[in-house]
Amino acid sequence: MIIALLQQKGGVGKTTLATHLAGELAGPQSNVLVVDADPQGSALDWTQKRTLLGLPRRFGTVGLARETLHQEVPEIARHAQHVIIDGPPRVTALARSAILAADLVIVPVQPSPYDVWASNEIVSLITEAKLYKPALKAAFVVNRRIVGTVIGREVRAALAEYPIRALSTVISQRVVFAESAASGQLANEIDVRCPAAREIAAFAADIRALMA
Ligand SMILES: Nc1ncnc2c1ncn2[C@@H]1O[C@H](COP(=O)(O)OP(=O)(O)OP(=O)(O)O)[C@@H](O)[C@H]1O
Ligand SMILES: [Mg+2]
Repeated sequence: MIIALLQQKGGVGKTTLATHLAGELAGPQSNVLVVDADPQGSALDWTQKRTLLGLPRRFGTVGLARETLHQEVPEIARHAQHVIIDGPPRVTALARSAILAADLVIVPVQPSPYDVWASNEIVSLITEAKLYKPALKAAFVVNRRIVGTVIGREVRAALAEYPIRALSTVISQRVVFAESAASGQLANEIDVRCPAAREIAAFAADIRALMA
C-alpha cells in the first residue's frame, strides 16, 4: 500500500504524521519505507537524527523530491509492505506525482475552517486523479486539536463541503510531537503510555481499516 500525506499548506503535520504512521505500520513482518518528497528533507533529517543518536531503525527513509516520483516509487517499493510519501508544501507538480503514485491520500488539516479551506487545491488534484484512477482513496485527518475542546460545528461544516471523508480519529496538539521532531524519537518511544501515542495508534487503525 502506498499512502501519501499531502497538503499544500505548510506546517500542518504531514511529516509528523508520516513518520508516526510509518512507526505504527512497521514491524518484524512489515517493511515500511518513507519517501521524503519534500525538498526541505524534514523526514530525512529526522531519520538522520535517530541514526546519530543510536536509536534503532524502525523503517527506511529515502529522499525523492522529483516530479517523476510516480515512476520511481513502484520499483523502490518492491520490497516494502507499505510506502509512506511525505509530501512538500506548495509544490503542485510534486503533489500531483505523489497522488499518481498513491493508493491512499491523507490530507492533514488543522481544526479551523480557514485551514480546511486551504485544502482546496489538494482536493481538486485528488478529484482530478480519481477520474482516471477510480480506486484512489482519500481522507482528511484533523491534527492539532486543542486538548479539551471538541471539533467545532464550523470545522465539521467546512469538512463536509468536500467530497472526501474525515477520519474519526483526531490528533491533538501535544508537546510530545514537538519533542519527537527535536529528538528523532516517536511519541511512543518518548512515553509508551502518553495520550499522543494512543491517538497515533488509533490513527493507524483508521488507516488499516481504509486499506482493508
Ligand atoms: N499534533 C501536534 N502537536 C504539537 N505539535 C505538532 C503537532 N503536529 C505537528 N506539530 C509540530 O508542528 C510543526 C510542523 O509539523 P510538520 O513538520 O509535521 O508539518 P508539515 O506539514 O510536514 O510541514 P511542511 O509543510 O513544512 O513540510 C513541527 O514543529 C511539529 O513538531
Ligand atoms: Mg513536512
